[in-house]
Amino acid sequence: MSRVRTRVACIAIAFALTGVPPSWATDAQHGAAVFESCKACHNDQDDALGPNLIGVFGRKAGTLPGFHYSNAMKNAGFVWTAANLKDYLTDPQAKVKGNRMPFSGLANPGDLDDLIAYLQTLK
Ligand code: HEC
Repeated sequence: MSRVRTRVACIAIAFALTGVPPSWATDAQHGAAVFESCKACHNDQDDALGPNLIGVFGRKAGTLPGFHYSNAMKNAGFVWTAANLKDYLTDPQAKVKGNRMPFSGLANPGDLDDLIAYLQTLK
């Protein structure tokens, strides 16, 4: 608890000194930490449960060669943009009904923005 308070205090001081809001609204480094919860399935192992997300930005949904997607994902018919990723990762079943990613979604919008900023760096 006190660590959190120290962090908040530091940010408040930085804000007071620079006059600009802290830039962690899209903090890819924090996004990398959030991505830890995705890595169990999204990694470069041959037996990974999920498709590798390197290059996911700008890729058409359900099209990574060699990965066996659900029909729902194969037929999603859109490209992974920030907006589509945001919708999907907020509520995977609402965005791509019937897809088989066993993940219920991220509730914290800050985490989500940072995660998407991080995904954009995966090339
Ligand atoms: C328990 C395993 C698991 C976890 C955890 C998980 N995913 Fe997935 N993910 C999958 C599977 C399986 C699919 C393929 C779904 C399908 O084919 O219907 C998928 C698909 C995706 C896709 C579509 C990729 C493409 O090539 O079209 C994205 C984007 C994605 N996941 C992002 C994430 C992110 C970001 C997280 C963490 C917040 C996450 N996933 C957590 C298993 C997982």
